[in-house]
Amino acid sequence: MANDYPQELKQPCVLLTGASGQIGVFAIPRLVAAGFRVLAVSRKGRPSNYPLLAEVDWLFPEEAERDCGKCQYLLSAGPVELAENFLKIGHQFLTAVVFSSSSVISKRKSPNPTERVQINNLLDLETRLELIAAERNLKMVIFRPTLIYGCGLDLNITRLAKWADRFGFIPVNRRANGLRQPVHADDLASVALAAMTSEEPLPGKMNLAGGSTLSYLNMIEGVFAALNKPPRTLRIPQSLLSLLVAVLNATGLATGINREMVARQAVDLVFDDQQARQLLEYKPRPFAPSIADLSLPEPVLLKALATSDQTCN
Ligand SMILES: NC(=O)c1ccc[n+]([C@@H]2O[C@H](COP(=O)([O-])OP(=O)(O)OC[C@H]3O[C@@H](n4cnc5c(N)ncnc54)[C@H](OP(=O)(O)O)[C@@H]3O)[C@@H](O)[C@H]2O)c1
Repeated sequence: MANDYPQELKQPCVLLTGASGQIGVFAIPRLVAAGFRVLAVSRKGRPSNYPLLAEVDWLFPEEAERDCGKCQYLLSAGPVELAENFLKIGHQFLTAVVFSSSSVISKRKSPNPTERVQINNLLDLETRLELIAAERNLKMVIFRPTLIYGCGLDLNITRLAKWADRFGFIPVNRRANGLRQPVHADDLASVALAAMTSEEPLPGKMNLAGGSTLSYLNMIEGVFAALNKPPRTLRIPQSLLSLLVAVLNATGLATGINREMVARQAVDLVFDDQQARQLLEYKPRPFAPSIADLSLPEPVLLKALATSDQTCN
């Protein structure tokens, strides 16, 4: 009688938070291609420019709270708080992959009190998730990625690209030689799937960097190359640029930038991701973005990926 079971009982099911975000957009087709049913959580429903896939149900958070009992897997690609909410409700989860951030390492001693509070909250959340996992014998991996880009939804590379496109130059800290490792959201989606489906014991936390380690200045040059524009930067002393940022923030011409970000342009933000490379065959692409990495992939491309044989990495 096994053949009479409804398909949904035979198919592994994953609750995906942050489904409309930059990791989610790439994770959905990869999960579908790997044979998962996906409950995609969004406060707004399926974005109109995302493909309609039979294996994906878009749910509002309250609907997902009701239905998450169907899922054996949790993939958290949005705020970590949501992962905690769903793990508290869904005692049936067997595996959880949760994206946190490498900021918990790099911003722990930030001179900005607001940043320190945010980071301490995130660290506390990670600890609470680990306790839940230990109590329930839940297999859980917390990933700490560095700066994410890849589909125009990020506030780093895409913001720089928008500025470069508009003004033709980017003002930077004169000492913008701090190292960066930008990571493509699709590489994160791929390694998340690898962790979900791995049968090996995995470390509870792993850093995820991109395939290149390059200076902030070289990263900006990569942004200009994606736009097919000559790389023009205006190198400004740190104190002056901090002042400029404060003025831009106060006048509303720029938001979400602070003096600590300006100072960090001179600081290396480099993380060791050897564990993911060795245990999950994580091979992130080098940083050489094209214009396609600055906007959402065409729905037809995502649909093709969902129906391909591609599984993990
Ligand atoms: N951005 C980066 O460079 C970066 C770097 C390292 C680590 N991370 C970490 O990676 C994870 C994903 O970050 P992200 O920047 O890609 O995505 P995000 O903006 O944090 O969230 C992705 C999606 O989650 C939903 N969401 C956001 N806030 C929510 C809330 N309060 N309640 C319910 N849903 C909410 C939104 O979708 P709807 O509007 O459709 O609900 C959003 O599109 C986070 O844990 C973040 O800390 C990010």
